[in-house]
Amino acid sequence: KVIYLKDYQVPDYLIDETNLTFELYEDHTLVHAQLVMRRNPEAGAGLPPLVLDGQQLELLSLSMDDRELGAADYQVDDSHLSLQPVAPTFTLDSTVRIHPETNTALEGLYKSGKMFCTQCEAEGFRKITYYLDRPDVMSAFTTTVSAEQHRYPVLLSNGNPVASGSEEGGRHWATWEDPFKKPAYLFALVAGDLWCVEDSFTTMSQREVALRIYVEPENIDKVQHAMDSLKKSMRWDEEVYGREYDLDIFMIVAVNDFNMGAMENKGLNIFNSSCVLAKAETATDAAHQRVEAVVAHEYFHNWSGNRVTCRDWFQLSLKEGFTVFRDAEFSADMNSRTVKRIEDVAFLRTNQFAEDAGPMAHPVRPDSFIEISNFYTLTVYEKGSEVVRMIHTLLGAEGFRKGTDLYFERHDGQAVTCDDFVKAMEDANGIDLSQFKRWYSQAGTPRLSVEEAFDAAAQTYSLTFRQSCPATPGQAEKQPFVIPVELGLLDAAGRDLPLRLAGEAEAQGGNRVLSVTEAEQTFTFVGIAEKPLPSLLRGFSAPVKLNFPYSRDQLMFLMQHDSDGFNRWEAGQQLSVQVLQELVGQYQRGEALVLDQRLVDAFRTLLEDATLDQAMVAEMLSLPSEAYLTEISDVADVDAIHAAREFARQSIGQALFQPLLARYQANRAISRDTAYKAEADHIARRTLQNIALSYLMQSGRGEVLDACLEQFDACDNMTERLSALAVLVNSGFEREKADALARFAEYFKDDPLVMDQWFSVQAGCGLPGGLERVKALMEHPAFTLKNPNKVRALIGAFANQNLVNFHRADGEGYRFLADHVITLNAFNPQIASRQLAPLTRWRKYDAGRQQLMKAELERILASGELSSDVFEVVSKSLA
Ligand code: ARG
Ligand code: ZN
Repeated sequence: KVIYLKDYQVPDYLIDETNLTFELYEDHTLVHAQLVMRRNPEAGAGLPPLVLDGQQLELLSLSMDDRELGAADYQVDDSHLSLQPVAPTFTLDSTVRIHPETNTALEGLYKSGKMFCTQCEAEGFRKITYYLDRPDVMSAFTTTVSAEQHRYPVLLSNGNPVASGSEEGGRHWATWEDPFKKPAYLFALVAGDLWCVEDSFTTMSQREVALRIYVEPENIDKVQHAMDSLKKSMRWDEEVYGREYDLDIFMIVAVNDFNMGAMENKGLNIFNSSCVLAKAETATDAAHQRVEAVVAHEYFHNWSGNRVTCRDWFQLSLKEGFTVFRDAEFSADMNSRTVKRIEDVAFLRTNQFAEDAGPMAHPVRPDSFIEISNFYTLTVYEKGSEVVRMIHTLLGAEGFRKGTDLYFERHDGQAVTCDDFVKAMEDANGIDLSQFKRWYSQAGTPRLSVEEAFDAAAQTYSLTFRQSCPATPGQAEKQPFVIPVELGLLDAAGRDLPLRLAGEAEAQGGNRVLSVTEAEQTFTFVGIAEKPLPSLLRGFSAPVKLNFPYSRDQLMFLMQHDSDGFNRWEAGQQLSVQVLQELVGQYQRGEALVLDQRLVDAFRTLLEDATLDQAMVAEMLSLPSEAYLTEISDVADVDAIHAAREFARQSIGQALFQPLLARYQANRAISRDTAYKAEADHIARRTLQNIALSYLMQSGRGEVLDACLEQFDACDNMTERLSALAVLVNSGFEREKADALARFAEYFKDDPLVMDQWFSVQAGCGLPGGLERVKALMEHPAFTLKNPNKVRALIGAFANQNLVNFHRADGEGYRFLADHVITLNAFNPQIASRQLAPLTRWRKYDAGRQQLMKAELERILASGELSSDVFEVVSKSLA
């Protein structure tokens, strides 16, 4: 069934108070719900039927205002309970039986290992009790949890703890009260044998907040990094947005079985353990940074999501796009701003652009969906964040802050829309963003091509911008977007020229933002004596595909001189893309591959310049991924792309062996003598060290093998150890590889998060035989399809990061993925649907592969009863 945004109607009834009691047992759970309800005054006259959401619930009793209802008083089907109220206000009491102990979908109340936990966003609360499970119904919750004392000593829910006690039969109970009205998707409950690390935070108005992070006892040594991140997040939100935390306690709980990263439940965030646990010995630098970012993201939701929430699920980006923007800026402030931007843009262009080009393409604010879980997408999150970033760019930091102040003040305690967000920005700044709002309603990645014209006599330099946007499902024609283009013009010495547009009295600095609003638009700069080199879309100021005919020499010039760090990297990427595409052509024509020496020279310059930021050098030495090269191809030639990129890596490793070795040895020496810290300069050092090692290993020389083994054995942290392992796994040193893999697994076999990394490193290995290796790993005792992290680590890493093996020409990779999607569909629809993404990209491949991919999608469609999650993705992909 398709749900449309245009059909939105306010709820017929409201729930002022929600009083819940959970009795947790090993073979079932009883949920008693008391709902204090009334007719919604905004919904018109009369008393329409009350239709509550509810799925997989066994109704044991129901009463209205203390009158017990019988079978004749209500109707129940597999997703609703309907009854006829007789007064505009009433109290509804229900008791249902549910089965968290067999809930494998990990939605609603379920068990992860020995603990009970919940995941209610978006529509999981209806699997807990009959309710108006929609975000515009906000209620004050009181929750009592009762469970066996010795299995579940810790009982948690949202808000503040208000009472607790023991019962007979070895049971105990606790009551929690959340004073802030909230939608049901923010409800949470946890019961388990958990330990916690406790700390406190003093808010800007001097209130003391207790901070607690709960984990299973064996993980208690891995929470300090998350706690530090939390305190930094709380301070940052006060300083940058003026937002203060509002309850007396803030809790995070780590669970091993979780469908996504984490969830911002009011006062009780529940996290995938992969996004909380981190210590040097078991988590990489990237994992430490992810923990910091996700802790911040969920904390920031307390204002952008909880205090101000979404009216309906079409508005998801209202909270997610904004909160991703907030966490990205936080990470930029805590670490290297330019590196963070580079990582985010590379991710967006590789993955979100692919989504925009595929059958599931949708606007940041979708118009319709079958299953909302399918719309927790890169478009809603990452492109949504870019849309908020563009508003920030257009308004400036101060104007943006005025806008958010007004937004939070105006809408505190409300469930609102993306339009309300933009309206606050407009009202606070006295501007009109109506054309800008097309970013919310039009899907697809805009193309922006730029043409230059220099008039030496008139000393003018003009840039003509032409924008267009390809058709996407349901949207054939697009109107022009507002595209903020940050730019500079470089003179022959590489300096930014003062920028003065025709008609302006004076120049406005050397870096400025132009708003391109028309399909075709020309901007003319005056007072330009010599033809400059434009640096366009600095900082990636808009999520578009830019096209300007740069020569390789111009790109090398920008790489060295652009005052914008992001565009220095971007120039290097474009140069690499040109060089790699040339190699792809050579491979396809059966010619010998010849690498453009200029790329080697550019890399040499980077390696030999000791004054450069090491993090930037590492980023710039990283060739565009096979996935990105696929995304920018019309028809991707998997084998040619793989061969071209591997050839380039080998040639670079050989040509630059000495400077790479020098960098490697210098950095490894420091790593050896310095205790691990997950801080920017340490991370930069290790990143460059490890990328150097991976290039060096291309040589196959014994001295590099020795260095790699030394690092693997002697390092004190997972970043160096896992990098050394990855380098070995991708090498031809079979004996050393097998030995390292075995020793690693033996040492870490009891740490599931480390084993996930062990699986991923092998799943991503592009050497021949990848599918067979992955199939063998699925038999490993540490693997299980029941744990989403394991599925992502092995199946997900294989299908998304091992393109040459996944896309093998006989289609066995596709068959493998489809088999597991069919299996997963039966017990975890959300995970099944997520794993499908690589098959939906069939349009990018040659006719033979297209057929094989579509055949697997059709096989899934015909495989039996499909969840709405899998059905939606498969049917839209075949449409
Ligand atoms: N709100 C959570 C977050 O972004 C994610 C919830 C995802 N829910 C889902 N059904 N996929 O922080
Ligand atoms: Zn979020």
